[in-house]
Amino acid sequence: MTHALLLENRTDTTATWWRQAAVYQIYPRSFADANGDGLGDIPGIVSRADYLRDLGIDAVWLSPFYPSALADGGYDVADYRDVDPRLGTLDDFDDMVAALHERGIRVIVDIVPNHSSDLHEWFQEALAAGRGSAARERYIFREGAGPGGSEPPTDWTAAFGGSAWERVEDGQWYLHSFAPEQPDLNWDHPEVREDFLTTLRFWSDRGVDGFRIDVAHMLTKDLTEPLPSKDELALIPQDGNHPLNDRDDVHEIYAEWRRVFNEYDPPRTAVAEAWVSTPERRARYASAEGLGQAFNFDLLVADFDAQQFRSIITDNLAQSDATGSSTTWVLSNHDVTRHATRYGLPPLEREGEKQGTAWVKAGGPADQLDREGGLRRAHAATLLLLGLPGSTYLYQGEELGLQEVAEIGPEQRQDPAFFRGADFDGLGRDGCRVPLPWTASGPSFGFGDTEAHLPQPSWFAEYAVEVEAADPSSTLSLYREALRLRRRLQTEERLEWIETGRADVLRFARPNGWQIVTNFGSEPFDLGADAADVVLGTVVDGAVPGDSTVWIAPAGLID
Ligand code: NOJ
Repeated sequence: MTHALLLENRTDTTATWWRQAAVYQIYPRSFADANGDGLGDIPGIVSRADYLRDLGIDAVWLSPFYPSALADGGYDVADYRDVDPRLGTLDDFDDMVAALHERGIRVIVDIVPNHSSDLHEWFQEALAAGRGSAARERYIFREGAGPGGSEPPTDWTAAFGGSAWERVEDGQWYLHSFAPEQPDLNWDHPEVREDFLTTLRFWSDRGVDGFRIDVAHMLTKDLTEPLPSKDELALIPQDGNHPLNDRDDVHEIYAEWRRVFNEYDPPRTAVAEAWVSTPERRARYASAEGLGQAFNFDLLVADFDAQQFRSIITDNLAQSDATGSSTTWVLSNHDVTRHATRYGLPPLEREGEKQGTAWVKAGGPADQLDREGGLRRAHAATLLLLGLPGSTYLYQGEELGLQEVAEIGPEQRQDPAFFRGADFDGLGRDGCRVPLPWTASGPSFGFGDTEAHLPQPSWFAEYAVEVEAADPSSTLSLYREALRLRRRLQTEERLEWIETGRADVLRFARPNGWQIVTNFGSEPFDLGADAADVVLGTVVDGAVPGDSTVWIAPAGLID
């Protein structure tokens, strides 16, 4: 294919292109709306292909764009091998892959294997076929408890709140780990396994370069009766034999997927979203015989704190040494409060474990929000991230410094977590999913030519792409410069810590002499003679100001 050839012009055409890639997450329904229906779409992405090229990213990851009733923002997939008609067609998808490949950008798509939509033909067939039918075997149907089976089989809670079981007309119940519109698939069923292999080949054949695997740790389950209660479940160790989470046998699936990925040249890549109990257990998902890479969300759940950052970085690099994979740094995505806002709020008092939940709370009360400080710290953290060995995932809008949108009325919200009572700051995840502002005016700030599907606040005008592109001191200009320099400075996947004599200042060097200094404190950190070699970030009187990062590159490293 022509576009595949054009991709060859890129610097990294090797099979390991993903190891240190900067990947930009697109939430398609909120990126750009080409057909004016208020929902972002695939032609919208094509229309912004030059923007993506100029940003300087290596790949995009698209959140689901498949046919969906949007019970969970598209993570309720009704057909795994098609495009939602509101978002375009398969031809549009091919055009998008071509447009991105021509610009040297790889394409990663989201696979949602734990559950389908209740509108998926298999689930509709299961409902129609009735209890005891073969069609029900593809999902997890059980008889209820109590008189006449009127109680759910167990007291398990779904991730979005409420019971994890929903009753159907004939009285049986089905398991849904998320919303009721997202029935869990039965991964013991050979047809389920086979069908996902077909899906992986379907998108790989269309030129997709990699996959992001939704809740990769949840697919296999041991539902041998009697089923444990919620309290009993909580006491079962997550050591590979837990009935619902991170079971060892899930890796049999990924070994099979790896064989499919390796049918392609270069092999297709995959990254697991796996919320598991320890870094060692996460490493299994990153194995070269499995998915190859796993998200590391440790910085995303950390405070803006030098010592937390240092130990997380050290641990994760040790993990990647052990697995042979590379790690993945993330500060924001479509599930969490934007990091510019998180860092503008007083640190959250967290109880117990930080892992095990995908959702990060915003912190203290909104009236204590320090937008300017939050953005400054967000810049500092992002520049640190982009200097680390491994790949970095950026979420659409963070390159504009967007803050979380709080101004969404209850009747305008879409996130099932908001309606079903899961505790996501009581606000759900819509605030980070508001359509991007491209221009300072217009019915949806250039997102499309009509009102956007989630309301955009008036302050979005200041953050519009056209405004920031014209301003050399904007967040967008900073991201563009950082990504441009990162390409030129990129080197082997190692770092060495340089002691700074300050607990609130981190400094490390990459093997080629590229250095990153982050001042997490408020007192300036003097750079001495190195101030002359700063290539990115601001130095004031030879020092790194508080809440800032600089990059240092000795003369000759960048010509
Ligand atoms: C994780 C996804 O990132 C999130 O958006 C979704 O709601 C759940 N998985 C369920 O698919």
